[in-house]
Amino acid sequence: MITGLHHYALAVPGLDVADDFLRGFGLETAAEDGGLVARCPGRDQAQVRMVEAPAKKLHHMAFTATALDPLRERLERAGVAETEPPEGGTDEGVWFRDPEGTPVQLLETPQAKPRDVAEVLFNVGAVHHRFDTPAWQEAEDVLPRRLGHTLLFTGRHEQQVRFWTDVMGLAVSDRITGKVTFMNVGAGDHHVFGFITSTHPGFHHASYEVPSIDAIGAGANRMHAAGYSRGWGLGRHTIGSNFFHYTADPWGSWIEWFSDIDQIRACWSPKDWDVPPHLWGPPPPPEFLDNREPTR
Ligand SMILES: [Fe+2]
Repeated sequence: MITGLHHYALAVPGLDVADDFLRGFGLETAAEDGGLVARCPGRDQAQVRMVEAPAKKLHHMAFTATALDPLRERLERAGVAETEPPEGGTDEGVWFRDPEGTPVQLLETPQAKPRDVAEVLFNVGAVHHRFDTPAWQEAEDVLPRRLGHTLLFTGRHEQQVRFWTDVMGLAVSDRITGKVTFMNVGAGDHHVFGFITSTHPGFHHASYEVPSIDAIGAGANRMHAAGYSRGWGLGRHTIGSNFFHYTADPWGSWIEWFSDIDQIRACWSPKDWDVPPHLWGPPPPPEFLDNREPTR
């Protein structure tokens, strides 16, 4: 059974550019396995791998699983061959290609524990939890805790969703009809993976949980000061309900901080929606859904 995202990997020109961008975002970076690896502070799990290449492209996706043999059998029954790792991928676990040719790695490992964070006390709605403690003096831990989800572009939306649900065992969380499918791995975050309709495959964004809405604002400010000022936010999403801010990465895709995402349980049932992506916030930039990766 797939239990969550392990990491995503991009091929990009200029690992020094990637290093500056990811450290500005709040990740810790290291040169490993011939590329660049970034982790959330206090969490022992690679969250993104960067491999040097002439043009930016989604390199691979990696997921954690409880056991690999049942997934191997499912792949075999679906006629999907195991492959060698792509150049720049590690040789652990099982590798195969998704229906559009993107390499996927399955790792038999648990999700690493995110860094502990302090309780965040709010005075909202009918409930007051914070007394004699000024909130502005409290928001100190603002760095990413864990990779939460990744959304990919697809030119074969229905085929991808069928594959990831029927073969790989993910479940649809909700859909924005004809545009986006959000998927989960069971109880927990409303979505950990998903697809956005496009003309061809590509990487749209990765999203990292931070301890609070204040941490989102602090992250966006930090990136702005570092010269990464193009973005979208602050807002609250419709599907998933999380507070968000996206910053444009140097390669035409996006990185997101999130907080307060909906948690779902086994009784959750998916629905189709016709709603904008945000409940409130500025409109998304016109290029938000541009897929600038080369067609394959
Ligand atoms: Fe997101």
